[in-house]
Amino acid sequence: MTDQTIHEVVRSHYGAIARNSDSELTLTASCCGGTSATAGACCGISADSGTDGCGSSLYKVEMLEGLPIDVTGLSLGCGDPVTIATLHEGERVLDLGSGGGIDCFLAAKRVGILGHVIGVDMTPEMIAKANANKAKTGFRNVEFRLGQIEALPVSADSVDVIMSNCVINLSPDKQSVFKESFRVLKSGGRVAISDIVTEGEFSPDLRAQTDQWAACVTGAIDVQAYTDMMARVGFVDITVVDKVTADVVTPQQGMPRIYSARITARKP
Ligand SMILES: C[S@@+](CC[C@H](N)C(=O)[O-])C[C@H]1O[C@@H](n2cnc3c(N)ncnc32)[C@H](O)[C@@H]1O
Repeated sequence: MTDQTIHEVVRSHYGAIARNSDSELTLTASCCGGTSATAGACCGISADSGTDGCGSSLYKVEMLEGLPIDVTGLSLGCGDPVTIATLHEGERVLDLGSGGGIDCFLAAKRVGILGHVIGVDMTPEMIAKANANKAKTGFRNVEFRLGQIEALPVSADSVDVIMSNCVINLSPDKQSVFKESFRVLKSGGRVAISDIVTEGEFSPDLRAQTDQWAACVTGAIDVQAYTDMMARVGFVDITVVDKVTADVVTPQQGMPRIYSARITARKP
């Protein structure tokens, strides 16, 4: 599978979710587009995994106050990077793979009118949804840019915080995602990620299952390999917090343990 094939499969998957979202709001049974093997899953997380469920249940209820169902119903993440990021007024924030924009709008509330939030997503239908949601919510300190997280349409040394929610596992070139993240962060800037990672690696056969890749399963890599990539480009203070105690997908043969983690780091 080439990187281009993976991008096409992932874009088509999330394009369909964005197009269908008007008629199927509240995607709790299919966020990340759980397919037959992950039915009832969220980015591979079992829907009954307690408070760390999926969709808008990832967030404290009070955080979502004032956001329309068009935003909360198109929540496809596997964690709450906004809270992990501990944002301050006036900060510039970048969200990798912003989808319908939920984390961008939550971040916009925290950084206020002096701050600014950029969401980048490669799926035109998601950017259109996010812009429609921006018009509905009235946030003026948020913008959405069409682009790939492996080649960010963002200037060097320009953001204080990078967040991402269940996206980097979908990239076929994670090393470039971290290299680009490091480039656009200001010195002293920080990273707050929620993502699916594994202990061990998928077999090549399982890796080749593109529907499972698009559903946030087989694109996930070993957590040590993930943090090694971050360290290689210069990130420091890399911390991984195991978020869920249960395995998120019942392991099949050749499948490693897979779970959602919170990962934080800093650019020196
Ligand atoms: C699982 S959804 C998460 C969306 C959002 N972060 C949330 O929590 O609702 C993944 C999103 O990442 C985008 N995406 C996946 N791979 C990408 C890439 N390589 N570059 C840019 N966007 C990407 C998809 O288009 C989709 O909108």
